[in-house]
This record gives sequence, C-alpha cells and structure tokens, in this order.
Amino acid sequence: MKTYTNKVAIVTGGGRGLGRACALELARRGAKVVVNDFFVGEDGVSAAQLVVDEIVAAGGEGAASTDSVATFAGAQAIVDVAVASFGRVDFLVTSAGTFNPARITDIGQDVWDNITGVHLDGHVACLNAAAKQMIAQGDGGRIVTVSSRGGLFGAEVAYSGAKAGIMGLSSAAALELAEHGITVNCLLPSAQTQLFSSAAETRLFGGMPVSMHMEPEYIAPAVAYLCLDEAKDFTGQFLYASGNDVCVYGPPLRVERTTTFVRNTGAWSVEGLAEYLPHLIESGS
Ligand SMILES: NC(=O)c1ccc[n+]([C@@H]2O[C@H](COP(=O)([O-])OP(=O)(O)OC[C@H]3O[C@@H](n4cnc5c(N)ncnc54)[C@H](O)[C@@H]3O)[C@@H](O)[C@H]2O)c1
Repeated sequence: MKTYTNKVAIVTGGGRGLGRACALELARRGAKVVVNDFFVGEDGVSAAQLVVDEIVAAGGEGAASTDSVATFAGAQAIVDVAVASFGRVDFLVTSAGTFNPARITDIGQDVWDNITGVHLDGHVACLNAAAKQMIAQGDGGRIVTVSSRGGLFGAEVAYSGAKAGIMGLSSAAALELAEHGITVNCLLPSAQTQLFSSAAETRLFGGMPVSMHMEPEYIAPAVAYLCLDEAKDFTGQFLYASGNDVCVYGPPLRVERTTTFVRNTGAWSVEGLAEYLPHLIESGS
C-alpha cells in the first residue's frame, strides 16, 4: 500500500461528504489529519470531531477545527491547529462547500456573498495560509482544490461563478507555487452527498458516462494519489473523478487537448491511479 511518512494534511469541509472520505483515506495511509468543518449537529456534536474520532479509532492521528474557511482569519486558524497539533502542513484539500440554486433574476447580495464566501474566499484564504506555511517549511507541498464541471457548464449563477473562479485561482497558484515544489491540482468530482443528494448532475453533460457508483469513497483515491511524492510533477491539472471513472481535462482553454474518460472495472485504487494517470497526463488526453 502506498503510504505517507511524517505528513500532515488539512481537509476543509472534512466533516461530511467528499471531505470526510478524503480525510479518512489520507489518515488510513498514514497522514496526520486536521479535519476542518464548521457544521455542528443538533446534538451539539461537531462533524469534524466525529471524523477525528473515526480516524483515532482506526489507529490514526487527527485534530478537529471548526473555523469557517470563509475568512483569512478563519483559514489561518485552521493552519494554526495543524502546526500546534502536528508541527507542519504538507497537504491541503479544500472540500468545504455549499450550494444555492438561485437564478440570475432571483439572486440577492446575501446568497452571492455566502456562495462566493465559502468557495472563492474560502479557497484563496486557505491556499494563502497553507502555502505560506509550506514555503516556510521549505520542502514542498500538495494542494487539491475542489471545483466542479458546473463551473463552466452549470445552471446556477453563484455556484458556477465561484467554481469557475476556483479553476482560475488553481491555475494561477499552480504556476506561482511551482518554484517551491508545491503542486496545485483541481478536483472536479461527482458524488452523492447531503449537498447533492441526487445523481442527476452526472447525466446533464453530453457525452459523459453515467456514474456506476456515487459514493464519495470512490473519489478519495484520486485525492490521495495527488498527495503522493511520486505525483510531484503533476500540477495545474483538472482531474474529474466519479465512481469508477476518471479523466484529466488539462488546463482550461487548452483546446488542443482531447478528453478521454477511463472507466475501471472496479473502484480506482491509489495504486491503480499511480500506474495509469501519468500516462493519461503525458499523452495529453
Ligand atoms: N458532491 C458532488 O457531486 C460535487 C460535485 C461537484 C463539486 N462538489 C464540491 O465538492 C465539495 C464537497 O461537497 P460535498 O458534496 O462533499 O458536500 P457536503 O455538504 O457533504 O460537504 C461539505 C462540507 O463543507 C462544510 N462547510 C461548508 N461551509 C463551510 C465553511 N465556511 N467552513 C468550513 N466548513 C464548511 C459543510 O459543513 C459540509 O460538511 C464542495 O465544494 C462541492 O461544491 C461536489
């Protein structure tokens, strides 16, 4: 099994959905994980703490953070938890997110501010705080941002606008941070979660395969793969993952690239992706 040695991960939105699956997968492979999520259930229990409890019960190490990602102060507080608990930050996975279906004719300032706050401010603030820490450490890092195909083909203006912005800032950050050995790749997932409870989204896009499995656990190996040492040369990529399917879109507007969806016979493992994805990226498909 491919594992991490002495690595510390932060997973925002890690209390539920995709973030939770990623946090558990990273911890299973040896990373110490700061699980960030501001959600607290009606019983007063923090979603982040519940996932940390799962990690610890499985023999791993974790720490909970309930700060909101939507401010620079909140993002810095999340990084501070990692440094205080485990001394460093090696991986950042920015899975905190929310959704609102408001149409252009209905949307108001509050909805726009909420959606762009979590997604855009949340991404830029977390990347800012984590990248500064990684640069100070001097030995690189891994950042996986979370956008959506809906960023460019969506039907909800605030969500699409924010998700498209995440693609842009991911490209820029990948270029800026390359000299520090920090990779920035952008995940375009599709899974059934409390945020998106139906699988319908997968069927909206012409030519897309319909996912065979919608559990978030099918997506976590792609994130875990991007955090490996051997993925150090992959940066600025846009990786779609859903069920048994993966594809690498490549940087937006690179029209010379074609896109091939690859369906595995079963769930992708980190080891399987490590064998296959380098060829997919190098072949430009
Ligand atoms: N599920 C999908 O099919 C899908 C598709 C495309 C993109 N995404 C994106 O993936 C990410 C994760 O989505 P999910 O489906 O797992 O949703 P989810 O609701 O299951 O998980 C998101 C978590 O983020 C937390 N969160 C929200 N705002 C926060 C904040 N300000 N600070 C800290 N935590 C906050 C929520 O409490 C929640 O637990 C989101 O960015 C979403 O837009 C999901």
